[in-house]
Amino acid sequence: MADVARALGRQVAGFVQPGRIEPEPPGPDASRAAISLLGTLDDLQPAGASDEDVEFVIALGANAPRRQAFDRCLELGWTPAALVHPSAILLGGARVGAGSQVCAAAVIGVDAAIAADVIVNTAASIDHDGAIADHAFIGPGARLAGRVSVETGAHIGIGAVVREGCTIGAWAYVAAGAVVVHDVADGVRVAGVPARPMERPVPEEENG
Ligand SMILES: CC(C)(COP(=O)(O)OP(=O)(O)OC[C@H]1O[C@@H](n2cnc3c(N)ncnc32)[C@H](O)[C@@H]1OP(=O)(O)O)[C@@H](O)C(=O)NCCC(=O)NCCS
Repeated sequence: MADVARALGRQVAGFVQPGRIEPEPPGPDASRAAISLLGTLDDLQPAGASDEDVEFVIALGANAPRRQAFDRCLELGWTPAALVHPSAILLGGARVGAGSQVCAAAVIGVDAAIAADVIVNTAASIDHDGAIADHAFIGPGARLAGRVSVETGAHIGIGAVVREGCTIGAWAYVAAGAVVVHDVADGVRVAGVPARPMERPVPEEENG
């Protein structure tokens, strides 16, 4: 996500880690190594008058922890950014909400609406009139046909396909490579071609 911000000409002030994750040691990845670690989310102070040019995104793939961190940052008065990589394509009327992140080569179709704190990962496509609710995650290369609704906190796995007009319920989980041809109920995990419910439900901390 730092790479997306930089591609947009934004300066990256630093990373704030969720408290429960140990900071990663600096790696060979030059784009990460150069970014300072500002502390944990628990250390984050309320936004002050001098912070009006500072915006945040939550670059966590798991939806429930991302929602928690997003809500905390809003409580502290920080302003969410919408980051759309310059290589992504937004067709006419497409909208991207506060705190949402659209990665490289993604396509957001005509009149599709991405709500707040959503991740649309690399080369995913959301066709016309799609509606993606807050805190959802669309995996790399996922293909959503026209008029698909993805409800709050739902996860669409890498390479999944969703047929036109289907609704993926709140906090539902579509596994990698699934082909969804019917609506998926809230909180249900589906996999396969065509997608069918898996036995194990979605543990909240895993979603994403
Ligand atoms: C669905 C998923 C969460 C299952 O993970 P898990 O609970 O660790 O499941 P396991 O790997 O133990 O597999 C359990 C069973 O489900 C099957 N299974 C797992 N993933 C599957 C998938 N995507 N499609 C079909 N079947 C799958 C396994 O083959 C296994 O069946 P078996 O017992 O008959 O061999 C995971 O495979 C998945 O699809 N994650 C999405 C990853 C993703 O999109 N990441 C994006 C990162 S940017």
